[in-house]
Amino acid sequence: MRSLAALLLLASTAACTTMTPDAPPQTMVAPILTSTDARDTATYARPEVARVTHVDLDLALDFAAKTVGGTATLDLLTAPGATEVVLDDRGLQISRVTDGGGAELPFTVGQSVEGRGAPLTIAIGPGAERRRIAIQYTAAPGAEALQWLAPEQTAGKAQPFLFSQGQAILNRTWIPTQDSPGIRQTWRARITAPKPLTVVMSGLKQGETEDLGDRRAFTYAMNKPVAPYLIAIAAGDIAFREIGPRTGVWAEPATLAAAHHETADTEKMVVAAEKLYGPYRWGRYDMIVLPPSFPYGGMENPTLTFLTPTFIAGDRSLNGLIAHELAHSWSGNLVTNANWSDSWLNEGVTSYFENRIIEALYGPRRASQEAALSFAEMEGELAKAGPDNPETALHLPDSVAGPDAGLGGVIYDKGAVFMRTVETIVGRPRFDAWLRQWFDNHAFQPATSAMILADMKANLVGNDPALAQRLMLDEWIYQPGLPANAVRPNPAAFAEVDAAAAAYGTGGGVPQAAWAKWTTAERLRFMAKLPRERTAAQLGALDQALGLSNEGNDEVLFAWLQLALANRYEPAVPLAEQFLARVGRRKFVAPLFETLMGEGEWGQPLARRIYATTRPGYHAVTTVTVDKLVLKKD
Ligand code: BES
Ligand code: ZN
Repeated sequence: MRSLAALLLLASTAACTTMTPDAPPQTMVAPILTSTDARDTATYARPEVARVTHVDLDLALDFAAKTVGGTATLDLLTAPGATEVVLDDRGLQISRVTDGGGAELPFTVGQSVEGRGAPLTIAIGPGAERRRIAIQYTAAPGAEALQWLAPEQTAGKAQPFLFSQGQAILNRTWIPTQDSPGIRQTWRARITAPKPLTVVMSGLKQGETEDLGDRRAFTYAMNKPVAPYLIAIAAGDIAFREIGPRTGVWAEPATLAAAHHETADTEKMVVAAEKLYGPYRWGRYDMIVLPPSFPYGGMENPTLTFLTPTFIAGDRSLNGLIAHELAHSWSGNLVTNANWSDSWLNEGVTSYFENRIIEALYGPRRASQEAALSFAEMEGELAKAGPDNPETALHLPDSVAGPDAGLGGVIYDKGAVFMRTVETIVGRPRFDAWLRQWFDNHAFQPATSAMILADMKANLVGNDPALAQRLMLDEWIYQPGLPANAVRPNPAAFAEVDAAAAAYGTGGGVPQAAWAKWTTAERLRFMAKLPRERTAAQLGALDQALGLSNEGNDEVLFAWLQLALANRYEPAVPLAEQFLARVGRRKFVAPLFETLMGEGEWGQPLARRIYATTRPGYHAVTTVTVDKLVLKKD
């Protein structure tokens, strides 16, 4: 007898085009993994019983009510004997569920768990292997994936704006589906919005925009199976400008020129990425520069990367962000972590790939500087976590797993160092050939740590026990801390800056002339190497010499504010306040509030006062983190 898993895997190869109202079209269905290590503990879905293979959304955006609602029609692939399908639901208001013939289906919403939502169990009864159900629903007004911006929160100040952030498990707040990275789905969406707003999504535009009087309808589709966290939407007064034949950028009209200038190398990046690890398989690579409340630096939504405007420095020095999100088109979107314990497969491999793109475009000097910055950050995080902390492994064990687990940056930086270490030991040509076959052989499929480890052993190490010993693969993936064979950054990368920082630290003057010539990476290195304790007079002199209060690069400005606030430097408070009111990117906002909260009776009242005014402007991703820091909420 064939196992259920085998049956479902077999179904994945079926390609037939018949269609009846009950039976959805049988297009490509991605396989699912059924091994224990692939299990996603953050989903309620039981894909081995019944799984969603396609999502069809017909939704209206309601900017007055700050909600979205309509119908989600799901194609299901069911195992023999299946009588129910379980979806993930966080706060959805469901009015009706029907089958392919329009008959009502009973459903229940189970016990809700904080941050995860509840299982939505729909009784589908016995029936065909493939069928279709339709869910009529509205997302809750506070749906965590979505941020509805008032006109004042945009650059244009005239129109409202909406954007979504799905990763890791937020899409269940606005889409009723199986919200697990191991359950890939194709999708299509028809979205209506009031004029003059334009809707964009993480898929390709279908047909012409429909004119509905005071509203318009936009249709997008993704015909390759993707993890559902990658379904994304943005709507606002936005315009598009082409970069290359398959690349371009969206932004508010007021931001478009700066956005276009900063993203101008993107087509070259796609060419470089393809040369490294194979064809770009998603058609277009467009970007949207969002208003500054976007909680991340970037998000790799397929065909449409979402970006913070804080990467716009005027000189493209922070466009490693684009290289990063682009690299996810392979590591993450093509080959996807099957669950959130293995996020390093997305973020670590991508951070390595990002650096290779930077090297290809701008040369080894900038690449080695950025790698050295990342290495130093990793060392800091490892030291903070302490030895043997299980959260510093690449594969996060079940005890610390979960969509928000792990020490943020460790999986990024340590994952990149792991890849660089393997590259150095086996040699670049051999490493590149291996990584390319990994992407090719697992394209459009989920993957786990155990799988990449087995693949490296089979396709990179082979029958070479001495090489296996030198690589220390198991230790890299499963043990905390930094393995002894880690390749260290090139000490030459920052020789000059480090010498300047050391001289300044031992009483020398501020290296004003050198600073003027330094790159962004060099300036960030200098800021990181400064003595942490400074007097008000020293900070004043530093600010005067380097013009830090007028800094236009938000990464450098952030580094300055961190240093200033940690030293209770009063003159920097108004600037910190302005920054926290302007920017909602969690990577900047959370550490600044953390610093203030660490400054006792000086910083804590300040943090509470500032947060009371800035909190309403932040996305839920940022408020969830900062609430814990400032409001001490769990
Ligand atoms: N995919 C991540 C963002 C993310 C990770 C969202 C985990 C939710 C859960 C994105 O690619 C990312 O890593 N962004 C970084 C970019 C940086 C490393 C260049 C960011 O936002 O800072
Ligand atoms: Zn990433």
